[in-house]
Formats: sequence, C-alpha cells, structure tokens
Amino acid sequence: MNHFSKDLQQTLTKHQEKLERLSLRRLFEEDDKRYSKLSTEISGLYFDYSKTHITQETLALFERLIQEAKLIPAISALFNGETVNSTEKRAALHTSLRAQKKEAQPNAKDIASTRAKMSQIVHELHAGQWLGFSGKPINTIINIGIGGSDLGPRMVTSALKAYQKNIQVKFVANIDGADLYDALATSNPETTVFIVASKSFSTLETLENAKNAKQWMLTHHCTEAQLSQHFIAISTNIKAAQEFGIASDRILPIWDWVGGRYSLWSAIGLPIAVAIGMDAFEQLLAGAHNMDQHFQHTAPNKNMPMIAGLLSFWYSQFWNCTSHAVLPYAHRLSFLPAFLQQLDMESLGKSVNKHGHSVDYSTGNILWGTEGTNGQHSFHQLLHQGTHLIPVDFIMVKESMSELKDQHQHLQACCISQSQALLKGKTLTDAEWELREQGLSESDIKTLAPHKVVTGNKPSSTLIMDKLCPETLGALIAFYEHKTYTLGVLLNINPFDQWGVELGKQLGGPIYQALGGQSNATWDSSTQSLIDKLRLD
Ligand code: F6P
Repeated sequence: MNHFSKDLQQTLTKHQEKLERLSLRRLFEEDDKRYSKLSTEISGLYFDYSKTHITQETLALFERLIQEAKLIPAISALFNGETVNSTEKRAALHTSLRAQKKEAQPNAKDIASTRAKMSQIVHELHAGQWLGFSGKPINTIINIGIGGSDLGPRMVTSALKAYQKNIQVKFVANIDGADLYDALATSNPETTVFIVASKSFSTLETLENAKNAKQWMLTHHCTEAQLSQHFIAISTNIKAAQEFGIASDRILPIWDWVGGRYSLWSAIGLPIAVAIGMDAFEQLLAGAHNMDQHFQHTAPNKNMPMIAGLLSFWYSQFWNCTSHAVLPYAHRLSFLPAFLQQLDMESLGKSVNKHGHSVDYSTGNILWGTEGTNGQHSFHQLLHQGTHLIPVDFIMVKESMSELKDQHQHLQACCISQSQALLKGKTLTDAEWELREQGLSESDIKTLAPHKVVTGNKPSSTLIMDKLCPETLGALIAFYEHKTYTLGVLLNINPFDQWGVELGKQLGGPIYQALGGQSNATWDSSTQSLIDKLRLD
C-alpha cells in the first residue's frame, strides 16, 4: 500500500503481532473500564466496539492512518460536492438530500421542488384523491426497480412496518417473471400504481417488468390513454421515461450526483414516503443528517463511522480477514444485509486504485449476514468453531418491536450471549469440567472434550438502536454509508463507480439471442453447451 508510509505499515504489522499474542479476554481483564473507553453514541445509536483487537496504542496508530490517508480533507471534499467520483467525473452529494433547509446546498432548489412533488403524490394517495381508470382510489403501489432502485426502499419500508399508512407497497426487481407475477396476482389493476424506478432508465430487468406491467393493465380494461393514471417514473433519463410513455408530470428527477446505492434519500425513496408518510420520511432524513454532522465534526476516537471503517481496514489488511458479518437481531431488519451488500461490495469491490493502477493489497471484503436469532441455527457454528476470523456487527433494538416483551428479552439475551461467546470461548479445561459434571467417563471426556473447545478471541461490535424508528434507521444507514466512504479513502479507491457490472450486461445480449436461436456467435464449450441445453427450440 504505497499510499501509506513504510514506517506506519511496519509499525502496524508489529502491533498486530503483539496483539495476536494477547487475547480479547486478557484485554478486558487488564482494564475494567475498557468498554467505556471503546464505545460512543449519537442520535439514538449506541456503538460498543470494545470486543475488538485494539488498545489505546492502536487508536494512536489509527490517527496516523487518518493523517496519511488525508481522511479529514476527503470528508470535506465529499460534503462540499467535489469530484470524489473521479472516473465518472461526478460529486457524490447524497448528503445534500438530507441537509436541513437552513444549510445552503448548491442543489437545494432542485431538491426542494422534487421533495414537493413527492409530498403532493403522497398526499393525493393517502387522501384517496388519486383515482384509477375505473374511478376507484389507489390503494397499492408496486415499485419496479433493482439494485439501488430497490434495495434501500425495500429495506426501509420493511424495517418501518410499524409506521405503515393506508397504501400497500410492494417491490418487484427480478427479471424472473415469477417476481412480477406474484405481485400482480395479489393486486387489483383498478387500484394499483406502478413506480418505474431507474436512474439510467435502461436497466433490462426494470424495463422488461415495466413493459409487462403495462401489458397487464391493458389486458385488464385500462386504455392506452388511461395508463398515465397508473405509472410514475423516477430517473435521470427524463427523455427515456417519456418515450416509455410516462406522462411528464408523473416523472420525478434524480441526478447524476446521487449514486444508485446512495439514492433512497432522493425521489427513489418515494415508495418509502408512500408507505410511512412524508413526516416519517423527513425523520429518516433527519436521522441521517445527524449522522452526517457526527461524521464531519466528531473527533476520530468517538467518530462512529470512522472507527468502524478503521476497524474493517485493520482486520482486512493486518488480520487477513476476508469477510464481515452483519447480524441484525430484529426480524424487520431482515433486508439490511442485502442492502449493505450493494452499498459495501459495489463500492469497495475494486482492484484498481484512484490513479488507475492495480492494487497490491485486498480491497472490499465479502459482507454477508442474516437476521438473528435465525443465523444461530445455521452458520454460527462456523463463526464459533470455524477456522476463519470473521468480524461481526451485531445490531440490536432496545425497544421491543412487538407486544411479546419476554420474547424480546430472549432476543436481546441471545445477541449479547453470542458476542460474549465469540469473545470468551470455552477452554479445554472448561469443556472437560462440564463433561465431568455431566457424569461422563474419563475416556469419553478425553474423546469428546476437544470437540467442545471454542477458541473465542473473535471480534465483534454491537450497535444498539434505541428504537426501530425513522430517525435511528436513517442514522444507521448513514453510519454504514460513511463507514464505506472511510474505507474507500483508506483503500485509495473510488467507492462511487461500478464499472465491473457492465461486462455481464454486454455479454447477456448475444447469449439471449443464441437462446432464442437467433445468433451464430461462438463461445467456450461450457457456455455453448449450456446454451444448447437450454435452447428453446
Ligand atoms: O448494475 C448495477 C446498477 O447500476 C446499480 O449500481 C444500480 O443501483 C442498479 O444497477 C439499477 O440501476 P438503475 O437505477 O439505473 O436502473
């Protein structure tokens, strides 16, 4: 990593070797105030990062990383709308979408007028004033989009089910017709409006689903002229949306300075606002804005996104970790890992640095996870006794999300006990004693005990949300956005482009033709045999 001094890299390597000989358990034994020094909170989020391999000496070395990576100026560049997305020559101003009115933003006028359009649509729908082709009020919205035009709105709408108003919101993303079919099967064409969400308005899945949604309307007594009552578009590509047949006054703009995976704060968030109401959507924005302020103005040792980014950098570069688990202990956050996969892996999955040179170090890690406690009954075995070191983010909610308070207490106990088990583990002596207590023979103990050892000394952080509400959810999402940006700076890569996804799309066209028997192109024997196997004729 020639963007850091050799001296700092060597010092960090030696420091890691020293810490590797210690254990997390020992670090807690040596300092009973460890957690208070290694935790911070803001905006209804409490972040405990004390169960990670760091000491005050590590934090001092992190400060040197911040200096050498010029992280603070990079954060100013982000918020000032500089060209932080160098290959597309764009700013990345998703933060301006949630800036409060009093803060002058270069694009404030556009944001305000689009927000007003969103508000108008939400009002008309909630008041039953938006009528379908047969004169009935609309009661269902189907969002057709994929990637950043789907994952954020889908995740937020699902997480904030408790704030759901009177319009049902569904999501269709996959080009597998079953996705659209299942949504249409439980919808009434007279009372359904489709949102075609696509920044480029050229994404195959979205256009195919939108085309077939149109067909569905037309085959259910809606006329061409009446279609405009049932379609909204959200895009930078106004012309393409108009050519698709969306009425101009039903097209909401987004801008090229908003990346797809950072776009739920823009008009892409319309399904969120329809689901939970404009006030709650504004609270989501406000929570994210609080995190923006925290990220910009808080000292590194109490700066949540900065610390999280530095910890990921520490584990990937100096502890050879290649994956990172996010385990939300909340059923309604079940879509969070999928959302974070795009945010993190589409941003950091790069192998060329900002200057166009191949990197000689690892960059984006594999982010994965599922809701707790479900994961405990599937992959936690690997986390506890596997050979990989996998840092874990536990996310919990203090306030119960149901009337079943005692079950919520179990949920919380399960989460904390998992982080404790990763920290403490179980020694061979503990295992033998336990088996002896159970009355096993010495020979059985000798055979079984080694299989019950849990090494422990595995890192995790725990984020507690006061409540699963718009404000804390907005802060949580912005936390991960800024963690991703911090990592992009530390890794010296551009976290805002995604050239790698173009190749698959380019190759898909000719293969589609070949599957339909309309192409004489040749491929490697595997591709050719797969096509032959699947040929429709
Ligand atoms: O192919 C990847 C991607 O471009 C994502 O970055 C984006 O969020 C998604 O496809 C959808 O793109 P669009 O909003 O332009 O349809």
